[in-house]
Amino acid sequence: IRVAVVFGGRNSEHAVSLMGAGSVLSVIDRERYEVVPIGIAPDGRWVIAADTQSYAIEDGALPVVDTSGSALAIPPGDGSLVALDPGDIPRSIGAVDVVFPVMHGPFAEDGTIQGLLEMAGVRYVGSGVLASAVGMDKAYMKAVLNSAGLPVGPFVVVADRAWRTDRHRVLKEIEELGWPVFVKPARAGSSQGISKASTPEELETAIEFAREHDPKVLVEAAIPGREIECAVLQGLGDEPPAASVPGEVLVTGGQEFFDFEAKYYPDQMALRVPADLPEEVAEEIRAMAVRAYEALGCEGLSRVDFFYTPDGRLILNEINTMPGFTSLSVAPQLWAATGLPYPELVDRLIQLALQ
Ligand code: DAL
Ligand code: MG
Repeated sequence: IRVAVVFGGRNSEHAVSLMGAGSVLSVIDRERYEVVPIGIAPDGRWVIAADTQSYAIEDGALPVVDTSGSALAIPPGDGSLVALDPGDIPRSIGAVDVVFPVMHGPFAEDGTIQGLLEMAGVRYVGSGVLASAVGMDKAYMKAVLNSAGLPVGPFVVVADRAWRTDRHRVLKEIEELGWPVFVKPARAGSSQGISKASTPEELETAIEFAREHDPKVLVEAAIPGREIECAVLQGLGDEPPAASVPGEVLVTGGQEFFDFEAKYYPDQMALRVPADLPEEVAEEIRAMAVRAYEALGCEGLSRVDFFYTPDGRLILNEINTMPGFTSLSVAPQLWAATGLPYPELVDRLIQLALQ
């Protein structure tokens, strides 16, 4: 079985993807699978990449797909490498049995590569086009979760034109959320472009900052509470999706919120697995995580993030259709604690894609 592990991509989570792909490449069963590592450079070129497990942040520098000296290629059926125009990708990617897109963010986790693979008739790990697209856009994600009766926090969408032409009205609407607020690009991940604003001045700066990632911005009321995460895995055959034990994320590096640095630099966060919660709350979280997964129509794996407020409410923060996937990332750790170690999780996801 030929598996293309695809990583990198044209977005701000490029490096995060490489770290996840490095972990996958290090544990994937080489006797069972013929592995084709494919990197997508920040400029969008696809290359056969080094089959290396050493993608990591080194001396603070983020890893990047290296296109120097690589054939711009995807193997055709005969196993040889060919130079490739972007237009040839759908045809050539058909030379693999299954694609594992270990990628996050726009052009990666947002339904676009999923659409490309659908067009090519190739199976792939994870959610399909619609669930991926909905999961990527925090505004639509919340609309779908809300309509499934799941509790989401108050928010305001700042559309590009409204911000440019009617800023005063937008700011008034946001002030009704109360302070502080969190300002986020609607379609990004790993906390890129996110900041906290406690005054109208900070808010304008925060919106401009988020707009560097996406002209569509979301402003959310801050929700006090513990950050609890739960992973969901598709069932084999007709088995229903299963939820992992919930874990609690603790920011230990002094950051004000769970930002990029806390997520990826060493020793900035701790994950408490299982989270220290009353049994009935943990069960409620697991049930809600599965409902969220089903509301979007997810496949494969997702991670659902919650706030557990001091007065005992559960608020759904978001769902990630391709959650951070290094062996030390939250979803793999949650599954390991639930009895599915990382190498088996990788294998299960490939088997789910092939079934
Ligand atoms: N977007 C990052 C990878 C996550 O949700 O884990
Ligand atoms: Mg996310």
